[in-house]
Amino acid sequence: MSNHEYQETAHTPVKRKEMSRRQFLAYTLGGATAFMAGGAVLPMIRFAVDPLLEKRAGGSFVKVVEESKVKVGEPTEFKFKIHQVDAWYVSDPEQAAWIMKDDNGKIFALSPVCKHLGCTIGWNTTTANQYVCPCHGAHYTVDGKNLSVAPAPLDEYQVKVENGFVYLGDIIPNTRV
Ligand code: FES
Repeated sequence: MSNHEYQETAHTPVKRKEMSRRQFLAYTLGGATAFMAGGAVLPMIRFAVDPLLEKRAGGSFVKVVEESKVKVGEPTEFKFKIHQVDAWYVSDPEQAAWIMKDDNGKIFALSPVCKHLGCTIGWNTTTANQYVCPCHGAHYTVDGKNLSVAPAPLDEYQVKVENGFVYLGDIIPNTRV
């Protein structure tokens, strides 16, 4: 490096990149606004999705009837209510089940919903010892086996017996046929 070049370099002022007052204000105000907006909006989002984040109870049983009222070999229809929470909608719809004891004393409960198109079946209505659907004439055996029209057997409820009462749980595919 020549002497002349050295002198030029030594006298060049170092340029520092400084933020202008306008930029500083823009960043500060932008940050503060974003912070306040986040504080206001995040709780609203949390409130809106809260029911979706809650764990579902699942597998809960409902007390339906005294065990002594369940007949052997003859289904009886029992009604009961279930407590439902579907996100923001809470309801207690009435359900029905056809409950009986088989020859071994085992209690089982069938859903009354026809597996054809969902009408409500009845026991012993037009045909003896069968479930019959009034809509399109599906027939089922006492165990819920589909004999005509319907493509599948009647569903079952999960059953448990405790302290002399029958409790019903979730609806599951038929396990008897
Ligand atoms: S809905 Fe039951 S036979 Fe069609």
